[in-house]
Amino acid sequence: MGKNDEARKSQATKTVDGQRNVLVTGCSSGIGYCVAHGLRARGYRVFATARAAEDIARLRDEGLEVIALELADPASVQACAEEFLRRAEHAVYAVFHNGAYGQAGALEDISRAVLEQQFAANVFGWHQLTNLLLPAMRRQGAGRIIYNSSVLGLIALPFRGSYNASKFALEGIADTQRLELYGTGITVSLIEPGPVESAFRKNSLKTLRAHVDISGSVHHKKYQNAIRRMEKVGPAAPFTLPPEAVLKKVIHALESRRPRARYPVTFPTYLFSVLRRILPTRALDRVLRHVAHGEGKPE
Ligand SMILES: NC(=O)c1ccc[n+]([C@@H]2O[C@H](COP(=O)([O-])OP(=O)(O)OC[C@H]3O[C@@H](n4cnc5c(N)ncnc54)[C@H](OP(=O)(O)O)[C@@H]3O)[C@@H](O)[C@H]2O)c1
Repeated sequence: MGKNDEARKSQATKTVDGQRNVLVTGCSSGIGYCVAHGLRARGYRVFATARAAEDIARLRDEGLEVIALELADPASVQACAEEFLRRAEHAVYAVFHNGAYGQAGALEDISRAVLEQQFAANVFGWHQLTNLLLPAMRRQGAGRIIYNSSVLGLIALPFRGSYNASKFALEGIADTQRLELYGTGITVSLIEPGPVESAFRKNSLKTLRAHVDISGSVHHKKYQNAIRRMEKVGPAAPFTLPPEAVLKKVIHALESRRPRARYPVTFPTYLFSVLRRILPTRALDRVLRHVAHGEGKPE
């Protein structure tokens, strides 16, 4: 590609005042909140999404441009994409897919409907949103799709099967899309955080209580231990990093001439990326049972 093509693509993804339009989902707290403010401070025109009316109002008060989005609702995803494209005048520089939750609980305690809900928010909503933005990116011959996956998209842990499965699915989507979009000027990157400070643990605990019959489960005792851990204030896991660690990788994925396919964040992700390649499955399982606070041991 010649220099003129590069310049044309770069122009196509900028608004008249020279800012780049980025859609960031799930900005009410945690990583999305940090990335939305961090990118805005860096000069991007950020469109932040949230779903609760009070979060939308709060983020607007903080100076962000906000669009309502419930990822599990196809009509909401459609309306969000239309609103973003309208306000950005179809100049889509990037989307940072981030809004998601972790349904805690053993797979045998998770109903089909609860698993479907997990996939509706963490997978189907993300896929639908990407598809709605791709035509604009294709027209420009440029665009960046960044998926916030997880170390749990690389390795499994007991009692997180629903979330695990959603992030494994996301890894499959991103890996496929990277192949399908090769040569279009549109890049696909996965961010893979290990433990990061956010409201994630608190929200996971809510989903456990809401959707799992804790007292009626064969895993009753393990749930009690897990609840105690999840209720702890401060980092529950070693090597926890602040969300700025993710922001740094998102900036690289947005600004590098050759964005990476995968960005590990935190020591556990680096460690497990290596271990899953070199260890046989049985040996890896032993390690994973050990790190899962005894949750992998029989009752
Ligand atoms: N924190 C970690 O240790 C960690 C590690 C690896 C990966 N991640 C990933 O990081 C991303 C952000 O999580 P976080 O850690 O920042 O947790 P968080 O503080 O709980 O933030 C999650 C965000 O996603 C939104 N969200 C949840 N379900 C949604 C839905 N159905 N529709 C629209 N928005 C929805 C939440 O909105 P509400 O406030 O309305 O619920 C919130 O804004 C997720 O993709 C998560 O899988 C986190």
